[in-house]
Amino acid sequence: MKLKWSDVTPEADYLNRRAFLAAGMAALATPALGLQGRPSAFSTDETPNSLEDITHYNNFYEFGTGKSDPAQYSGSLKTSPWSVTIDGMVDRPGSYGVEDLAPESALEERIYRLRCVEAWSMVIPWLGVPLAAVLDRVGVQPGAKFVAFRTLHDPEQMPGQRTRILDWPYREGLRLDEAMHPLTILATGLYGRILPNQNGAPIRLVVPWKYGFKSIKSVVSITLTDRQPPCSWQMMQPGEYGFYANVNPQVDHPRWSQATERRIGRGLFGGRQETLMFNGYGDQVAGLYAGMHLAKHY
Ligand code: MTE
Repeated sequence: MKLKWSDVTPEADYLNRRAFLAAGMAALATPALGLQGRPSAFSTDETPNSLEDITHYNNFYEFGTGKSDPAQYSGSLKTSPWSVTIDGMVDRPGSYGVEDLAPESALEERIYRLRCVEAWSMVIPWLGVPLAAVLDRVGVQPGAKFVAFRTLHDPEQMPGQRTRILDWPYREGLRLDEAMHPLTILATGLYGRILPNQNGAPIRLVVPWKYGFKSIKSVVSITLTDRQPPCSWQMMQPGEYGFYANVNPQVDHPRWSQATERRIGRGLFGGRQETLMFNGYGDQVAGLYAGMHLAKHY
């Protein structure tokens, strides 16, 4: 299925965008528009959420814990220039500019489901590049087994870091085969525009078969290592958030069921829908976990 977001943009988004422009934001919105990405066979044909929902219902604790806090407060993040340090077990460690890691000519559009561990979900038309392409360029050394990611640590720009809700900076990690999987991307845009700050500008990870907290935002460092790296939510509450965090309707969170989810934008009476194993990406990723006890490695 090859779809571009323009083929499937819901009318609500079109109307939202008109309201947005009417609100006198045109000058702000214009420079960010017009980012192109090749359509991808990995895209879902489900209807994407509206731009309004995607950019106003967020988790980004560096800017507060409320869903509307990131949209309201992330303007203080300076996203350009921005570079990502890639180090550890790689042949060509260094500091790489975002334009270099994800040049516009290489962008693909990936319309993915996002399932948050809090049991809500969205469909988001990302623009990005496969993480594997970036890792291939820097040359992963044979002994590397894991990839560790870090978000910027700067309480001046990220005022939420003045409170100790998490042990900053936000950290995440993947097994190397998960990082190299073709579904795993580094996103720099969505809905045909540069990534808004609240969604993790200028570059963030997207791993669609895992709970959203694995998809770390505003990445400044990527380290190849032979040890499983510490991850923020796992460090905070190891009994509730695991390293793998694969979407799994059969393994409940200790405080709530993961069997169903609320699709944002469907309204109060939209009802809940069943959560799918690996968020519906089982055909592509189940093989990564063959023989693993998924309730134990949650
Ligand atoms: N990355 C950082 N640095 N800080 C965060 O608080 N929240 C995570 C993830 N990445 C988070 C983060 C969670 S819980 C989710 S569900 C997704 O980002 C939300 O992404 P979105 O706001 O773009 O939908």
